[in-house]
Amino acid sequence: MAAGEVTQAEKDGAEKYSRAVLAAYDTFVLKWSNTYAWRYPRERLLTHYDTHLGGRHLDIGPGTGWYLHQATSSAAAPEITLMDLNTNTMAMTAGRPADRNITPEVHTGSILAPIDPTVGVFDSVAANFVFHCVPGTWAQKGRAFGHDGVFFGSTILGTGVQHNLFGRALCALYNGPIKAFDNSADDPGGLRTALSAAFDTVDITVVGTVAVFAAHRPRRTPAQ
Ligand SMILES: C[S@@+](CC[C@H](N)C(=O)[O-])C[C@H]1O[C@@H](n2cnc3c(N)ncnc32)[C@H](O)[C@@H]1O
Repeated sequence: MAAGEVTQAEKDGAEKYSRAVLAAYDTFVLKWSNTYAWRYPRERLLTHYDTHLGGRHLDIGPGTGWYLHQATSSAAAPEITLMDLNTNTMAMTAGRPADRNITPEVHTGSILAPIDPTVGVFDSVAANFVFHCVPGTWAQKGRAFGHDGVFFGSTILGTGVQHNLFGRALCALYNGPIKAFDNSADDPGGLRTALSAAFDTVDITVVGTVAVFAAHRPRRTPAQ
């Protein structure tokens, strides 16, 4: 496969976000699943998001753009770029920051592909709830690591954490017939190893079944 070519498994992780799914996303995922299945309420994730949001911000896999829209950080991200394999999510998100007189740039691409340098230079890069949708081991998912600025986000772990009945049922469904997740082997130790291979400073907190991370000072560029 040619470098940068998007695999069917990558497409599987992104193409589920139709306009109908996105219409239900803030309630079903951000409100109910985050609270009762993954046990990391969206308000706590918003605090993490607000803490790390920079003036020139790249948001990878923005979904509905809820975090971007709710952010109150004084940086308030005056320059926003969105990147996703799914154009529905960027179209929906783009309408939201526009409410605050911000018009995001949009870029269609996979988190696993090197970012074209013309896309921009960023103070912060976010990937919230994206890696559990991305195929491969942590070493393979780690191709996405190495951005300049702070790289922060969150991901639902499949192993090494205690899932409740609701979480186990959703993981079985999403990793199975729905093919929206690929996180059965995602463990906290593997995430730390992969992030530490790419960045000098790595901070990871696991709450419920979610790993929340922030990493600084890349050891390499994403293109390498
Ligand atoms: C579960 S949603 C997360 C949305 C939002 N960031 C949040 O925290 O609620 C996953 C997002 O990642 C995107 N996505 C999935 N696989 C991707 C990939 N390989 N490259 C870029 N975006 C991807 C999806 O299209 C969707 O926008």
